[in-house]
Amino acid sequence: MRPVRARVNGRERTEAVPPRLLLCDFLRARLRLTGTHVGCEHGVCGACTVLLDGEPVRSCLLFAAQIDGREVTTVEGLAPDAEHLHPVQQAFHEEHALQCGFCTPGMVMNALDFAKSHPNPSEEEVRESLEGNLCRCTGYHNIVKSIMAGARAMAGSK
Ligand code: FES
Ligand code: FES
Repeated sequence: MRPVRARVNGRERTEAVPPRLLLCDFLRARLRLTGTHVGCEHGVCGACTVLLDGEPVRSCLLFAAQIDGREVTTVEGLAPDAEHLHPVQQAFHEEHALQCGFCTPGMVMNALDFAKSHPNPSEEEVRESLEGNLCRCTGYHNIVKSIMAGARAMAGSK
């Protein structure tokens, strides 16, 4: 077992993990943060995307031991309180960007990073940013609209 000490959604966590335990399995099974979804398990679909020190990563391609000393944010860590959603989550809600919702957490986590550098993105820019996130329901149209709206909301220019 390997000791892991990390900050997850603002909370210090200290756990002992098998060296080959995947980060996605650690988050879901050990910490019960099941908002991080697992689709392809080999880095293609983006459903497992979380932020590691603020950068989007695929949690199916990392070991839990690799987050030692670092900060992880999952979709559960975004809403400011129980009554309000993060602006990107709110945009997904308002633009009807969910069908089955399986891809949604990964889409939202990826969009957060994209929005930081694109406060008022074009449709083309959003579509390019989504090349690593697959929606099996193929509801891309409303997802794109949501990310455009969410980015503007994050920038305070909605
Ligand atoms: S489950 Fe990680 S990229 Fe698909
Ligand atoms: S909403 Fe179903 S996979 Fe995207």
